[in-house]
Amino acid sequence: MEEANQKFDDVAWTEVMAQVEKTYVLLTEQQVELESQNKSLTSTQEFLSNIMESMTDVLLVCDRDGVIVQCNKAFEAQLCTKENQVIGTHYTDLIKLDEASLKLLGSNQSVSDINVDIVVDQVTEQFSVNCCVRQDDRLRMLGYVFIGRPIGELVRAHQDLQITHTQLKESQDHLIESEKMASLGRLVSGVAHEINNPVSFVYGNVYALHQFFERLKQQIIDTTKPIPEDVQDIFDDMPQLMEGTIEGLERVTDIITGLRNFSSIYKEESKRVDLTEIIKMAVLWTQKSHKINIQIDNLTENGIFVYANAGKLHQLFVNLLQNAFFALNSVDAPNLVITSAVEDDKIKINFIDNGIGIEKSKLSKIFDPFYSTKKTGEGMGLGLYICYNIAKEFMGSLSAKNNPDQGMTFTLILPLMDDQDA
Ligand SMILES: Nc1ncnc2c1ncn2[C@@H]1O[C@H](COP(=O)(O)OP(=O)(O)OP(=O)(O)O)[C@@H](O)[C@H]1O
Ligand SMILES: [Mg+2]
Repeated sequence: MEEANQKFDDVAWTEVMAQVEKTYVLLTEQQVELESQNKSLTSTQEFLSNIMESMTDVLLVCDRDGVIVQCNKAFEAQLCTKENQVIGTHYTDLIKLDEASLKLLGSNQSVSDINVDIVVDQVTEQFSVNCCVRQDDRLRMLGYVFIGRPIGELVRAHQDLQITHTQLKESQDHLIESEKMASLGRLVSGVAHEINNPVSFVYGNVYALHQFFERLKQQIIDTTKPIPEDVQDIFDDMPQLMEGTIEGLERVTDIITGLRNFSSIYKEESKRVDLTEIIKMAVLWTQKSHKINIQIDNLTENGIFVYANAGKLHQLFVNLLQNAFFALNSVDAPNLVITSAVEDDKIKINFIDNGIGIEKSKLSKIFDPFYSTKKTGEGMGLGLYICYNIAKEFMGSLSAKNNPDQGMTFTLILPLMDDQDA
């Protein structure tokens, strides 16, 4: 019996040992497999992390609540930050998305190619951003992935290009304008010269006629008694006719003077000029063709002196006056007031009309070249653009606003010139 027990113990022991060995082999096999899986996991992780780190686009990974859980090196470099500074932050604190994009993300939809600012501390950069929703195998939402391409440089280059383009366009406009005005000046000067000759002899003849008439009248009065009624009528009407003719001639002379001034615009250099004279001349010029009440307030009689080109200022005032007349055409009791005030070392001239004014939305555009609300053929939309640039050229400014009640006010500010500056 005892022997039988001893035999069984040996068998059991051998069996146990065999099982232990088997388990050990299995465990070793599993460990090898685990190690190999771990190796491949590490290499996959390394591979993914290499891809992320070598990307030049910035990458942000968020969880389903929008909290950032990872960012790449490009993000750190672009925004001068460190991963631990952004992890745990909500993406809306850094990425300044518009309402529409936030709405799309809120409903688990992607957004693509939107230009946004990303702000970390004091650093702001512009990016073109794509964002997609992260999902698992069963299409459950896990979070978001943002990928952004820096466009700050591009935007800056574009802005520089735009500034250069505007400057180029301005100089081109200026050149065209100067050439146009110079040719117009030559034409006007020729016409003024041609008109001046006949006007001079008409002047002389009218004066002589006046003298002859007086002598003839005296002779008739001395010799004919009573004077026939129709002759007396001629005697009565004649002085008025003469006066009217001389007045007409004086107006033509004024116009010629004006034309001559105008024709010398682009020949003149800048110098100390009297603003009051130029305004009065511009009013005289433009008022002839309009029956509008112009009130020139407190323009000092001693003159207001600025350093500018008289011709260009004349052009500025004529443009402002013509615009005002146009706006006043369709209103009852049209009125234009020109005021001036000295403020420190500057002169401020206001042109206040009670015309039709302009809609608020259009006000910001009126100084743009080729902006006009007039019908085709009535205006080129260059008047105010030219005025604005003339004011700027002489270190001044020109601005416009609608009056609280009716019409518009244009304000020209120019630096004054003292006697000492002359
Ligand atoms: N006093 C004003 N009252 C109301 N609107 C004005 C006045 N002055 C200018 N505007 C508005 O500004 C626009 C631009 O004026 P601007 O002088 O540049 O061009 P324009 O008068 O239309 O044409 P152009 O002067 O080239 O003949 C005008 O079309 C008009 O709508
Ligand atoms: Mg105009």
